[in-house]
Amino acid sequence: VTTQVGIVGGGPAGLMLSHLLAKAGIDNIVVEKRDHETIRTTHRAGILEHGSVKLLNDSGVNGRVLSEGHRHDGIDLRFGGRSHRIDFQDLVGESVWLYPQNEVFVDLAAARERDSGDVRYSVRDTEVLDVTTATPKIRFTEADGTEVEIRCRILVGADGSQSICRRAIPADVRSDHFIEYPFAWFGILTEAPPSAPELIYARSEHGFALISQRSETVQRMYFQCDPAEDASAWTEERIWDELQRRVEGPDGLELKRGRIFEQMVLPFRSYVCEPLRHGNLFLAGDAGHTVPPTGAKGLNLALADVGLLFHALDSFFSAGSSTLLDAYSETALRRVWKAQNFSYWMTSMLHTRSDATPFERKRSLGELAAVTGSRYGQQYLAEGYTGWPDN
Ligand code: DHB
Repeated sequence: VTTQVGIVGGGPAGLMLSHLLAKAGIDNIVVEKRDHETIRTTHRAGILEHGSVKLLNDSGVNGRVLSEGHRHDGIDLRFGGRSHRIDFQDLVGESVWLYPQNEVFVDLAAARERDSGDVRYSVRDTEVLDVTTATPKIRFTEADGTEVEIRCRILVGADGSQSICRRAIPADVRSDHFIEYPFAWFGILTEAPPSAPELIYARSEHGFALISQRSETVQRMYFQCDPAEDASAWTEERIWDELQRRVEGPDGLELKRGRIFEQMVLPFRSYVCEPLRHGNLFLAGDAGHTVPPTGAKGLNLALADVGLLFHALDSFFSAGSSTLLDAYSETALRRVWKAQNFSYWMTSMLHTRSDATPFERKRSLGELAAVTGSRYGQQYLAEGYTGWPDN
């Protein structure tokens, strides 16, 4: 099989790129090792920057992000038991949309199917070869056992944090930058009405908690925990008590409890692969970088990579110019490092290390007071949260 762009990974990044390329008349094939149902039911973050919403909407995926998503004009930062609203509209004139990543996947997968896109799920033994030649290849085995080789002009690795494509960049030209954190998130989905109209990012002496939403009847919440925590060992009552004590305050904020139908521990790290290109192989999304979840930058960063890469590929295939492709890694990494800083900053400011000294605990409260007490501080946060206008 021959195509112009071979894409490894059929998550939101790979499918978005495939969709944009197809619209521009550029042939492409996507291969994905998971099945549709597994991706659809993998719960990830739920906040889209305005730029991500625009990309989904303007490219004609469908209108669900606007009709089903919820526009959020601000968030609450909560510390010392008090909430401080960051008003995005007032500060930077932008909003974000609460629209879960699995819905983004469902929409993109449906759009690829509608437009007769070539997306192959459940493939195994995927390998990438000859990435520095003019015909890089993807080899894999289809679900029915057929062995396939795709010869392409450009290969894109959008295959997530465990990327096999990344491994095709030799160790001597690749830098892996990463840090680990001494905490993880305990995430739940519950059948309950919303406890608040907007997201609450809370720092408490018992650790971080995030009160997020999904719909009128389903809510998403997280709290900082030990990475070794056994999620199944927690009863519903214990989870609710833990969440509640982290948002407790004189305003009497009371979480609305309900049946918990999903509970899991999500470990996290910060990681960047430099460069994001080797020969005719380009990395996009988690394959090239991972952020801790605080601030929900992961999917947004992946979509920003895809937007850039699409323009570069369009200019390469339609106008024969490699200028944008040559600039891709450096341009994408500018936003990646800003988002790494933002996610690291939000994580550090809102979480408490178990070995933190009283000085460190008080300093973080000082930082939160400085940010929320200043219009400049609030604006800095609002700009990063809603998404920088360019890289
Ligand atoms: C959600 C996750 C995040 O990491 C975040 O910062 C905000 C919202 C969510 O799943 O709703």
